[in-house]
Amino acid sequence: MYIISRLFYCILFLSSHTLIRVYPWNDEQVQRLIGFNDPDNQIEILKATRGFNDSSDLLVPPEKMEFLNNFITSNKLHSQVKTLNYGRRLELSERSPRRRQMGNLIYQYNSYAVIESTILRLAKQHPDLIQVQNLGNTYQGKRMNLVKISKNFKARNPIIFIDAGIHAREWVAPAMALYLINRLVNDPEARNRELNGIDWYILPVVNPDGYEFTRSAPENRLWRKTMSLNQGCLGVDGNRNYGFKWAVSGVSRDPCNRETYAGPKPFSEPETRYVGNIMMDNKDRIKLYVSLHSYGQYLVYPWGYTDKAVPLTWKKLDTLAHKVSNAVQRAGGMAFKVMMAGKWYPAAGGSDDYAFGAAGVPYSYTMELTDDHEFLYPEELLINTLPKFYHGFRAMADHIREEFSRK
Ligand code: ARG
Ligand code: ZN
Repeated sequence: MYIISRLFYCILFLSSHTLIRVYPWNDEQVQRLIGFNDPDNQIEILKATRGFNDSSDLLVPPEKMEFLNNFITSNKLHSQVKTLNYGRRLELSERSPRRRQMGNLIYQYNSYAVIESTILRLAKQHPDLIQVQNLGNTYQGKRMNLVKISKNFKARNPIIFIDAGIHAREWVAPAMALYLINRLVNDPEARNRELNGIDWYILPVVNPDGYEFTRSAPENRLWRKTMSLNQGCLGVDGNRNYGFKWAVSGVSRDPCNRETYAGPKPFSEPETRYVGNIMMDNKDRIKLYVSLHSYGQYLVYPWGYTDKAVPLTWKKLDTLAHKVSNAVQRAGGMAFKVMMAGKWYPAAGGSDDYAFGAAGVPYSYTMELTDDHEFLYPEELLINTLPKFYHGFRAMADHIREEFSRK
């Protein structure tokens, strides 16, 4: 009962509130805005400003609109109303009875232990659809579980391989991966469409050591790297650690400095080694690879290591990316910024380049989920956002089936 009432509370809550971004443009306004406080505690501050040109994002109930408007005009602040993605009702179609039971967990940021037990529970409930492969242990000894989903494991269908959470602080990415796993096996429509002629390999948390570290204390919330020790300093950027054009651009070679340390050598991290092995072991069947990150609402494709060279097949990569973006947009979400990763900024040793360049996976992407709120995407918004992104994955499945299924 609690779960259901909470779910409906969320729906009502989101449908009536307005997200307002308030921009300060002088020092005094920054201070005023940081000090802003609703005496009734009805206005929720989703994000506080960090200075000029950086907004405070406020979630405002209807009865508080006038109060906020007075604050904005009396302080001569700039403001912007963002209704598009936040005020919308959850479509009825997104609420099958099955998911309502799971709803609580699936729309939350979970501990790694809960993610793991959820996967194992789903596998027990659907032995015909799910196989879990234990890949081995992380640096700190956590088990890494690859979730394989198929209607017919013997058919050796084309594989869509998704991973998430290589960067510890990007919490929305593992949440998306778990949502995807749950929906693929519990939505009857998915069985006839997304699972039709396609196998899904999903690794929901590539860097569970780092993920748990970000959950351990507020001051660790923005940790990005793995947890290995190098010359007495902590962590390697997993997405600079893959063994293709390793460290040729956009990395740090100093373990004690910067967020983008590439590691002492390619695949120095067990976590990236496992992912590389999955790609190599299944190189002939994996047709699409997507690495889930946040934030920025980007969908980028190789090359990532350079802005000079373009893959021969860039047009195909670009076309599918736009299809995915359009599908998400049609579902009420926001379009992706689609481009070659290296044109955004060159950075070598990424998993997308390795899949494409070393394993020969024809479609390879990095997907930066969500636009607002940076790394602190509010948990309450997951229920609204994850189902919209799902339509992008459906579009991928349609495309891969079309191009690669044996007729
Ligand atoms: N934000 C991602 C990162 O910095 C983007 C990766 C894009 N791919 C690439 N190979 N550079 O890891
Ligand atoms: Zn990332």
